[in-house]
Amino acid sequence: MGRERIVVFTGAGVSAESGLRTFRDSGGLWEQYRVEDVATPEAWRRDPALVLRFYDERRAQVLAAQPNAAHVAIARLQERFNVMVITQNIDDLHERAGSKQVLHLHGEILLARSTADPALVTRINGPSLRLGDRCALGSQLRPHIVWFGEAVPMMETATDEMARASRVLVVGTSLNVYPAAGLVHHAPRSAPMVLVDPQAIGLNRAGTRFIQASATEGVPRIAEEWLIEPNA
Ligand code: APR
Repeated sequence: MGRERIVVFTGAGVSAESGLRTFRDSGGLWEQYRVEDVATPEAWRRDPALVLRFYDERRAQVLAAQPNAAHVAIARLQERFNVMVITQNIDDLHERAGSKQVLHLHGEILLARSTADPALVTRINGPSLRLGDRCALGSQLRPHIVWFGEAVPMMETATDEMARASRVLVVGTSLNVYPAAGLVHHAPRSAPMVLVDPQAIGLNRAGTRFIQASATEGVPRIAEEWLIEPNA
């Protein structure tokens, strides 16, 4: 019998204690910027330099951040389970903590994408992506991020993974943004789901256990519990 499959579904809250701001908490990013000014295709057409500056700021913070105990505990689950991390985050903290299978639903801040061919994706060397930085085809590079109003290309893959999970751990997401938030409803009814968040996030799903705690407090606890439980 292969190793049990676990899906860990994360949002900005899992990186909050690494110093990266969430979006909808008080002091969150959407209090300081308007989504329509920095995170939509229209914003990109209207003022690409502002959009690039917004993501340069995000990228500099990601490069300066370190994975926290929650990212590390999630990576440790790989000692016993086949772990697929499905994240809404654009940082690389899961990867840097050692997670081997990470699916970024909303893109990756360290990657740039051609505006001529969306399949053309390259790593950004250094903290900045500038007007005039061009792809191999000569077109302006854009952040490899899914903006509001754009399709979420990895959604089908993510749904398939969630449908095959035997356990699900949900960490640090307000479950506000669709289609990502809808993923939790694709888990098998038989799969126990644990949700870690300091806020009382309502998830009306039978078989859901809610741990009201920060990620660095709650995730190591549940990971420890799962790693030492006797074989079923
Ligand atoms: N530990 C765990 N969870 C935390 C912590 C923490 N230390 N601090 C905050 N949280 C929780 C909040 O209670 C909230 O439920 O993290 C969640 C953050 O929610 P959002 O800010 O809405 O972030 P997220 O759910 O990831 O947003 C989804 O929206 O703006 C878009 O594309 C963006 O991927 C993002 C998507």
